[in-house]
Amino acid sequence: MPSNSPETAAPPSSGPDADLRAFVLGLPKAELHLHIEGSLEPELLFELARRNGIALPYATVEALRAAYAFGDLQSFLDLYYAGARVLITERDFYDMTMAYMRRAQADGVAHAEIMFDPQTHTGRGVAIETVFAGIARALREAQASTGVSGYLILSFLRHLSEEQAFATLAAALPLREQYGDLWIGIGLDSAERGNPPEKFARVFAHCKALGFRLVAHAGEEGPAAYVRDALDLLQVERIDHGVRSEEDPALLQRLVDAQIPLTVCPLSNLKLRVLRDLRDHNLARLLRGGVMVTVNSDDPAYFGGYVADNYIACAQALGLSRQELAALARNSIEASFLPWEQKEKLLRRLTAYIR
Ligand code: ADE
Ligand code: ZN
Repeated sequence: MPSNSPETAAPPSSGPDADLRAFVLGLPKAELHLHIEGSLEPELLFELARRNGIALPYATVEALRAAYAFGDLQSFLDLYYAGARVLITERDFYDMTMAYMRRAQADGVAHAEIMFDPQTHTGRGVAIETVFAGIARALREAQASTGVSGYLILSFLRHLSEEQAFATLAAALPLREQYGDLWIGIGLDSAERGNPPEKFARVFAHCKALGFRLVAHAGEEGPAAYVRDALDLLQVERIDHGVRSEEDPALLQRLVDAQIPLTVCPLSNLKLRVLRDLRDHNLARLLRGGVMVTVNSDDPAYFGGYVADNYIACAQALGLSRQELAALARNSIEASFLPWEQKEKLLRRLTAYIR
């Protein structure tokens, strides 16, 4: 495990850190920025490679983990797409998703909005039906057995063309009848720089007309202008990351005024070197400045921490108070795509918890 991974340290069984962990785990929260392929832990990755007869360029789980030292977003994406090659069957997608849902429940997640990248799989000859079937079966079973609900956000890979995004949408749409209760949104991820929002304006307009909720990664590595363009040209309701919005004061004011949620992923930003030290993260400044920020894990198997680890690491590095941690959990519920009745139910649970 990399040395800066919060998972390496055994959680303290008593003392202030244990109190903080217990408080964070108990906070009812939503996770809104999670790539299911980025939840594939090395142990399961090895198991799926064995099951599917796929050779890996690493001898051991430890050797693979040791390779998780990234210089930037692209160096991570290279390993992330290579890791996803072990996902072949419906059962593989089911196992990966079920493992995440169990882990999310342990972190106090009441609802998860999960991104998945069909093109990462269809490009290797895996049918989109297989991807949907495995993920959806796990979400339905997890909801029944744990009460944790899940929605799906189908994300287009922005390093590919808009034409390929349209083709993916066309292949997925017949499945909406079967999975429409889960598949509620469309997202945009992968290499940000050089792939501006405008590249996907037409396909996002089409998705909006079809009634999908829209999100896009912007302002992670790319400039604040990409955040503005994601809002104006793609008409998204939430920005994934968005931490570079601060570079444009007028944009920042707009985010505050319109209460546009940012799904911030602090440990991801650290691992991908968006910043050098978590103490330099702007999460606390954004929160205190009135931006609707939420805390999420992005690709927890690669970045060394699930959602609760992100809350805890930020509390420690940025001096967040219990009220501020509760405000982040409240934002996550409010910024979710759940219907109002369900949001209100979760908000009542949160209020009871902090009282
Ligand atoms: N795909 C998976 N994780 C991502 C991230 N952090 N940024 C862009 N694309 C991604
Ligand atoms: Zn992401």
